[in-house]
Parts: sequence; C-alpha cells; structure tokens
Amino acid sequence: MNILITGANGFLGKKLSVKLLEQGHNLYLLVRNRKRLDSFMAKEGDAYSSQIHILEGDVTEEHLGLNRQLVNSLKGKIDAVYHSAALLSFDEKDRDRTYKVNVGGTENVLNLALEISCQKVLYISTAYTVGKETVGAETLYSSDRCFVNPYEASKCEAEHLVYKFRNNLDIVILRPGIIIGDSRTGVADTNFGLYGFLKGIKILKKRAMRRQDAQSCTIFLDPEVAQNFVPVNYVIDVLDAALVHGKNGSIFNITNPNPPLQSEVYAIVKEVLDFPQLKMYPPSLNAEMTNEEKAFHDSMSIFHSYFQRTIDFPSDNTAKMLAAAGVPMLQMDREALKRIIAGYLLDKASITS
Ligand SMILES: NC(=O)c1ccc[n+]([C@@H]2O[C@H](COP(=O)([O-])OP(=O)(O)OC[C@H]3O[C@@H](n4cnc5c(N)ncnc54)[C@H](OP(=O)(O)O)[C@@H]3O)[C@@H](O)[C@H]2O)c1
Repeated sequence: MNILITGANGFLGKKLSVKLLEQGHNLYLLVRNRKRLDSFMAKEGDAYSSQIHILEGDVTEEHLGLNRQLVNSLKGKIDAVYHSAALLSFDEKDRDRTYKVNVGGTENVLNLALEISCQKVLYISTAYTVGKETVGAETLYSSDRCFVNPYEASKCEAEHLVYKFRNNLDIVILRPGIIIGDSRTGVADTNFGLYGFLKGIKILKKRAMRRQDAQSCTIFLDPEVAQNFVPVNYVIDVLDAALVHGKNGSIFNITNPNPPLQSEVYAIVKEVLDFPQLKMYPPSLNAEMTNEEKAFHDSMSIFHSYFQRTIDFPSDNTAKMLAAAGVPMLQMDREALKRIIAGYLLDKASITS
C-alpha cells in the first residue's frame, strides 16, 4: 500500500514507519524538519530508501503546506493516512497552539484525504479524551465533559471532526494509553508521560543525595492507583492491525488490561535506582516536605489528576480486531515494566542536572 504518515518524526511515527516499511509498504512521510528524519533514516531506514517519500509540511497549513503540484501528484495514489502529528502539551499557556495543531491540523488532514481520494484515515487520539471520568468506553465521548487540560479537550474535539467524515472516508479512531518504551528492549525515545515522572525522580535523588543527612525521601502518591502504561511495540501492533481490520467508524482503546499500580512502579524505581531512602506515602498523610520533595511535587503538578484515579478502559473492540488479525492482546509483566524503567533510568544520556 501507499501510506501517508503525519508526525513521522515523532516517537510513535518513527516506530510505525519502521514496521510498515518492513512489511513492504511505500511511505509518504510528512515532517516539518527533514534533517531530523534523515538522521533517523540513516540509522534505521537506509535499507528502505526506495520505499520512502519525504513530504516537508505542516499540518496547521491548508493542504499541510504542500504545493498544488504535489497535491495533484498524490491524487488517487494514497491508500491510507495515519494522522499522528500533534502537540503534546498539558500547559494552559499553550492552549491556542494545541488547538491549532490538534484540531485545525486534523481538519486539514481530513480535507486533504478527501481531495486526494484517499480511502482510509486512521486517527491517533488518546485514551485520555475520557477527561475526568473513570470509565473510558470505546465510543465517541461528549465533548462538553470536563477535561484535565487543553490537550485532552483538543484531542476529543478532533475525534468529533474525524467521526463526522465517516460518510466520506473510512475512519478509525485509535486511543493509546500512556505510551512507554519497547517491552522487548526497554528503549524509548520520548520525554512524555512516564518519562517526565522518571526524570523528576532522578533529579530528586540527585538533590537528596547532596544532603549529608538524607535519611529518607518521600513521594506522596496513592499506592492503589493504577497507571495505564502501554509499551510502544504493542501500540504499533494495534495501529498496524487497524490498517486492514479496523472498520469504518470504529474506536479502539490501545490500553493495558492489567495496568500496574503506582506502588509497583515505585518499587521498581527504588530498586533500579538503588535508592533505599525513597519512600511512598498516600497524599492524605499531609506530612511536611523537604525542599527537594516540594520541588519534585511542584514539577509533577501537571500529572496531579492522573496520579489520583484509576481509569477503567474496556477494550472489547480492540480484542476482537486483534483476534481477527491474529495478534495477541497486551500482557505486560513486571519484568517488562522493569526493563522499560531501567532502560531510561540507567541510560547515561537521560541524566539530568
Ligand atoms: N506519547 C504518548 O504517551 C501518547 C499517548 C496517547 C496518545 N498519543 C498520541 O500519539 C501521537 C504521537 O505522539 P508521540 O508520542 O509520537 O509524540 P511526538 O513524539 O511529540 O510526535 C508528535 C509529532 O507531531 C509532529 N508535529 C507537531 N506539530 C506539527 C505540525 N504543526 N505539523 C506537522 N507535524 C507536527 C512533531 O513534529 P516535529 O518532530 O517537527 O516536532 C512530532 O514529530 C499523538 O497524536 C499523540 O496525541 C501519544
């Protein structure tokens, strides 16, 4: 197939590209910065150069910034689009830009797909369009619910846009949980989600160890809350299965049926970092914090809402689709999670100031 991928330079986009290239597809990769893609391709994609067409563009522009000649040349040529480009900022200050990229950009992608007579658009959303609710079914959510941040709200609005096109295009909405590294290798190439937390813990340890009297160092998190971590290789398997098996109008949770508890993540972090002074208590304890602990908790404030509740994500649609594709559902054991956490914490390149 000929497949266009937006966000091809991103964490997910690069992994997806490699998987599709290995299967022999021809890829049209939309990137803002060609040089960044070149350095990635030099490492992983060189063998596939004849299957790769690079399109320099920006989803916030009409026709994604591609010129008329290029748009014409794509007519009737593209079988499917994976729309992965997005701005992953939880910051209220970025609200306008987040909407421009995530909602406006999605509209531009859908319009281009129609114009070039592409049959199928696979939209990569997020499980967190569920907002402040605690159950996330595989259905379209109301867009007037309460959201934690503009990112969630923008992705939900984009889902509604995508869904509206179901009479003109085959559309599929894919909702990953918190994407973490590869369960086989531990490798990840992102600073988002879990990695923001791990970076914070590394800084906490470094600062605490500077104190001679560092007896203990506490993080205040509810041990019973689960975090919906999904390894990137599983996410890619589901995205790939949806290319053939995802029916028009369907929505798939790419989530973890047995998500790890915060107490389990904490225990692994403590072990991997060799940080016996690290303690975890529920926030209800209301204990006084040291300066280091306070700095850590302040830096984690954007995740506050996610640390407080377990969200149930039924995934019957995904289970059925994967069964049809002959792909197993996710089973992430402690060893795989440890490999992923260690992959970041023990990587020298991730050492922070
Ligand atoms: N990571 C997660 O935990 C997670 C969880 C659930 C859902 N998702 C969704 O998965 C998708 C991919 O996320 P990711 O983790 O791969 O994020 P990422 O590494 O930040 O990749 C996002 C990509 O979007 C591109 N992009 C941003 N603005 C653009 C614009 N105006 N025009 C064209 N491209 C633009 C970026 O290009 P540059 O390289 O030029 O910056 C980047 O390559 C997103 O839709 C995200 O919402 C991610």
